[in-house]
Amino acid sequence: MTTQLTKSISIDFPIIMAPMFLVSNEAMVIAGMNSGIAGTFPTLNYRKEGELELVLDNLNEEKKRLKVNGTYGVNLIVQKTNILYEKHLKICVEKKVPFYITSLGSPKTVIEQAHGYGAKVFCDVTNIAHAQKCFDLGCDGFIAVGQGAGGHAGPYTLQVLIPSLHRHFPNTPVIAAGGIATGSGILSMLTIGAAGVSVGTRFIACTEAGVSNEYKNAIVSSGMNDIVMTDKISGTPSTVINTAFAKKIGYKQNWLERALSTNSRTKKLFKMWVQLSGMKKLEAAIHPGNYNTLWIAGQSVELINEIAPCKDIIERMKAETIEAYKELGKTIG
Ligand SMILES: Cc1cc2nc3c(=O)[nH]c(=O)nc-3n(C[C@H](O)[C@H](O)[C@H](O)COP(=O)(O)O)c2cc1C
Repeated sequence: MTTQLTKSISIDFPIIMAPMFLVSNEAMVIAGMNSGIAGTFPTLNYRKEGELELVLDNLNEEKKRLKVNGTYGVNLIVQKTNILYEKHLKICVEKKVPFYITSLGSPKTVIEQAHGYGAKVFCDVTNIAHAQKCFDLGCDGFIAVGQGAGGHAGPYTLQVLIPSLHRHFPNTPVIAAGGIATGSGILSMLTIGAAGVSVGTRFIACTEAGVSNEYKNAIVSSGMNDIVMTDKISGTPSTVINTAFAKKIGYKQNWLERALSTNSRTKKLFKMWVQLSGMKKLEAAIHPGNYNTLWIAGQSVELINEIAPCKDIIERMKAETIEAYKELGKTIG
């Protein structure tokens, strides 16, 4: 298949395995690359000294050995509150990471440095105003994050956001993210102007993910009505499975937390504290036997029925896309 995305980052099929904090790992990314898609991970998944360098060396070696067109990318949270941002960007540039996804802040520095050696930078966007800023800075594409996505879901449906971005920026690839777990979902996004899709939640229930089986099983057994939004993890609304623990800690910041996160003197420090404690809660929750179950997931849990190896998940999505295209041809023809 050839789209603006496959051409831009040299892959065979227009799927990005989305970056997922604490979930994405080297094995998943390698499986993605070998299946002709882009595997990605947040650099924050490798916080110990020397870890990120090692993973990038391994991925660069693997990329040289590929028999298909696949690639890998990293996700950088480009917010001032991410204390590892500058260090991680430096390492990624040194290791010549081929593809970046930026989220939450200004992608300016990442774009400048990545373009210095020909790498591509796609920016997470949820509206046209943010997309315009990224476009003006010279980004190579948008990840349009819509309603129902796992993590920081956007406020708009993809059916409106994708064509609107496409109309404003016709020459910039728009990638659909949020609620996609099947081939018919992929086909639907391609028909409304997306150059590809970014799939997160579906890959939590893969054999390679290093999270607890309880979390993977919850992905399989939950439905879309089990997904709620909470401010409690990072201060920005995020989707989680509505477990007893999620209910217990509540979904909204209280008045004091809101005051601290808006006051100009306390804002930065308080946000850093919320994010650090949210990361700690999430980290505890992915380990087996933990009752504080705070599990990020999007509404596509509704469509996920089994835990499977990444390769099988990807091959099935590819086959379903072609099948859905043929079926649609019968209906229209
Ligand atoms: C468990 C989980 C963790 C995530 N962590 C990150 C992250 O660290 N950085 C980021 O930019 N997006 C993150 N996301 C969002 C994904 O990259 C992607 O936009 C989203 O999963 C797409 O929607 P879907 O889950 O409905 O497929 C996360 C999503 C999930 C489900």
